[in-house]
Amino acid sequence: MQPIILDNPLIRHKLSIIRNKNTGTKEFREIIGEIASLLCYKAMEDAKLKTIEIETPLCKMETEVLDENEYAFVPILRAGTGMLDGLIHVIPNAKIGHIGLYRNEETLKPVKYYYKMPKDIQKRQVIVLDPMLATGGSAVDAITMLKEDGVKNIKFLSIISAPEGIKKLEENHPDVQLYTACVDKSLNEFGYIVPGLGDAGDRIFGTK
Ligand code: PRP
Ligand code: URA
Repeated sequence: MQPIILDNPLIRHKLSIIRNKNTGTKEFREIIGEIASLLCYKAMEDAKLKTIEIETPLCKMETEVLDENEYAFVPILRAGTGMLDGLIHVIPNAKIGHIGLYRNEETLKPVKYYYKMPKDIQKRQVIVLDPMLATGGSAVDAITMLKEDGVKNIKFLSIISAPEGIKKLEENHPDVQLYTACVDKSLNEFGYIVPGLGDAGDRIFGTK
C-alpha cells in the first residue's frame, strides 16, 4: 500500500519547529501532539458512521456519529506515547494498548519489553503510533505482535518516515496503511533519519 503523506503548509511549518535542535521539550511535545491530531483526522477519512436521531434547538434531525468504541490506539513506547494526547483529544473514548520496544544500538533490531492490549482488541480498528519510522524494524515487529493477537484492521501513524522503513513495512505488512507527515531522504550509519529530528523519545521526555 502506498503511504499517505500529509503534505500541507501547516504541517511543514510545524515540522520545521520540531526539526530545529533549539526547540525545547515543551514546544516539541506540544507539536508532536498537534501533528498526531492532524494525522488522525486524515486516517479517519474512511471511518464508518452510524445514523442517530437528535434534536437541535429548532427541530429533530437524523445525523451521523462515530462509534468510538470501535477504536484502539497503540503507542510504541516510549516515543509513541508523545502522540497519544493528540489522538485522545479527538477520539476520547478509544481504548489504549501499549507495546514496549527499544532498538539495540548496535544491531538496530527492536527488543520487546512490554505488551498489554485491551481484552477485545481483535474487534477494534487499531491505530499504531510512533513518530519515527526509520529502518522499520519496530513498526514491523509491533504489527506482527498485534496480528498474532488476532487484530485484523491496523493503521500506522508516523511523523517522519525514511524510505527504508516504508519499504520494509510494505514488504512485511502490505495490508497496513501508513499515514505520515513527511518522508525524509535516508538513514545515516547509526540508523537515524536524516535530516530527521534526532531521537524522538529523548526530545519528548527531555532525557538527553
Ligand atoms: C525509536 C522510535 C521507534 C524506533 C524507530 O525508538 O520511536 O520506535 O526508534 O526505529 P526503527 O524504525 O529503526 O525500528 P527507540 O528504540 O529509540 O526507543 P524510545 O522510543 O524508547 O526512545
Ligand atoms: N529513532 C529516532 O528517535 N530517531 C531516528 O532518527 C531514528 C530512530
